Amino acid sequence: MLIQSLEVRNFRNIRECSLSFSDTYNLISGRNAQGKTNLLEAIHFFSLGRSFRTRKTEEVIAFEEEYTHLRLNGTSDVGVRLRLDIGIERSGGLKASVGGKRLAGLSEIIGLIPTVIFTPEDVTLASGPPANRRVYLDYTAAQVSPDFLGELKAFRKALRQRNSLLRAVAEGRGDGRELTAWNEIFVEKGAAVVRGRIEMIAHISTEAGGLIGRILQKEEHLSMEYRCSFDPEGRGYEEALRESLERAEERERVRGVTLVGPQYDDVSLFIGPVELRRYGSQGRKRLAAIALKLAQATVIMRQRGERPVVLLDDIFSELDAGTAGGVRGILADSFQSFITSPRPTDLSGSDLGRRCFVVEGGVFEEISGFPERAPEAP
Ligand SMILES: Nc1ncnc2c1ncn2[C@@H]1O[C@H](COP(=O)(O)OP(=O)(O)OP(=O)(O)O)[C@@H](O)[C@H]1O
Ligand SMILES: [Mg+2]
Repeated sequence: MLIQSLEVRNFRNIRECSLSFSDTYNLISGRNAQGKTNLLEAIHFFSLGRSFRTRKTEEVIAFEEEYTHLRLNGTSDVGVRLRLDIGIERSGGLKASVGGKRLAGLSEIIGLIPTVIFTPEDVTLASGPPANRRVYLDYTAAQVSPDFLGELKAFRKALRQRNSLLRAVAEGRGDGRELTAWNEIFVEKGAAVVRGRIEMIAHISTEAGGLIGRILQKEEHLSMEYRCSFDPEGRGYEEALRESLERAEERERVRGVTLVGPQYDDVSLFIGPVELRRYGSQGRKRLAAIALKLAQATVIMRQRGERPVVLLDDIFSELDAGTAGGVRGILADSFQSFITSPRPTDLSGSDLGRRCFVVEGGVFEEISGFPERAPEAP
């Protein structure tokens, strides 16, 4: 997918702008709080049908205005031209159209413009709680495999049902008789989710490992290990999960919540021999998180046959010049990218086909390039 242009009206602090983009790099700089993330948020809106920053859609409407309107012109990888419009009114009205043809709702726009976004908080993919890594894996696997999505939904439903039955038991409102029926679904779907995640890890770690090798230009690979919380050692996942449930049942009835299962699993990330969460440096954690996102983009591209647009919001802090240059080099080969930084020197260089913008108070201006950074200390 290539985004050729974007027109914005009353979106956050962007009152009115009309921008044409490069097929390769779009570099955006500006001081803090001037509108860099707002622009990425506007682009990403077309991918998700909502903001990636808030669930309260009306928050994106500029203060004191009654509506916002976004228009995107793009071309798919097979050359189909797309014109998408999104309109949001403070009164609650939402409109989306493709080529002027009105869609039933904003959710119908999802998937038309595939994007992968990396924000500073995404570094928690490498360093934060296990839930972040599970969400990443489940989301990626669901994008690639409708079967996995089906298993995941069924598993989540069984987990919800178990939890509400167990809560009722713990609060003396029930005897949990229906638990047995849900246990079997929980075991079957839970095991399928684990298998799907492990399969995804094999794809992702090959992709991300290769990317890191290219970025660091040495034999430091990223590897991933699935940490199953219910220890399948020597047995099938079904059997291990069933046995863990049996062992946990008494405690579960007291606590009123499911205590075992893939909802507690984790993934360990390594660069070379170093386990990142425990021993990784800030820069390496950030690099691993970026590589995971780019690997996700590659996996989605293979599956869908459509290159996602890559949005990188202020990713270069903590990366040394060589690593940052390596990340940009990777992008050149594969994706249209939008990269922001409050430090103009982060965006210097003469990447092929780049277009450069500065933003001040929500007003964007195209410039010819950014100043070079001073040489780094050895
Ligand atoms: N609904 C809104 N209407 C008008 N302005 C808004 C609205 N929501 C946020 N803003 C303004 O947008 C600005 C923030 O923009 P943005 O988040 O894009 O900054 P940024 O350039 O990415 O900064 P940083 O470098 O700090 O990340 C703030 O000045 C904020 O007050
Ligand atoms: Mg920002």
